[in-house]
Amino acid sequence: MSTQTWDPSDYGKNGAFVQTMASEVLEWLAARTGESILDLGCGDGQLTQRILATGATVVPVDSSPEMVAAARARGILAQEASAESLPFSDRAFDAVFSNAVLHWVSDQDAMLAQVRRVLKPRGRFVAEMGGHGNIAAIRVALGVVLARHGFGDRDDGASYSPTADGYAQRLEGHGFHVQRMSLIARPTLLAESGVEGWLRTFRRGVLDGLPEPLRDTVVQETTALLAPVLRDEEGNWTADYVRLRFIATP
Ligand code: BEZ
Repeated sequence: MSTQTWDPSDYGKNGAFVQTMASEVLEWLAARTGESILDLGCGDGQLTQRILATGATVVPVDSSPEMVAAARARGILAQEASAESLPFSDRAFDAVFSNAVLHWVSDQDAMLAQVRRVLKPRGRFVAEMGGHGNIAAIRVALGVVLARHGFGDRDDGASYSPTADGYAQRLEGHGFHVQRMSLIARPTLLAESGVEGWLRTFRRGVLDGLPEPLRDTVVQETTALLAPVLRDEEGNWTADYVRLRFIATP
């Protein structure tokens, strides 16, 4: 997985939209009573709770120990695991579900091989992730500011935003059949903390890698560059999210 680090409390405040905007991918999953579902990258467990409410058996995993602890604090028995080496037997699950996680996985081929391995032959992989053009303005602005300060090579974790055709080919290369796939522009209203809160939450891995005195400067300069395009007259910030959502079967 990438080196991104998470603060569950910041994530709860500045990333609340990750849960509230997940209804459609949950509809695509259409979990049923008695099914066994792997929740890959369960985060703080809010979506796990919604899947559990369908009567399915859910196995939640996350690579972040902080997120696993946050999920456990809400009574979700999450376990720490990497998407690239899943600690489950072959053909263990009816479905693998993932929301807002796959773009963080460094070795996509290892992850897809693992998902394929743990799915039953009639199973399904239902996921939503960053798609081509995702947070383009934020990436350009942050990249320019990092380069200005001599750290232009640092914004690595946000780089994987495949096209629909590109990811379909990748899935097919691992023996999946794509049943449904959409690339969706999804402008996303940010929390009151705006892009500053977003940067501190979602680019924390990058900021933590900078010399301490530079962190606030990078956040402030990036925020100033983005204000004319992402902040409206009332002061609301909208991020330029693009989602790739799919259902693929073995
Ligand atoms: C996202 O699409 O959820 C995302 C991608 C890169 C950085 C932060 C968020």
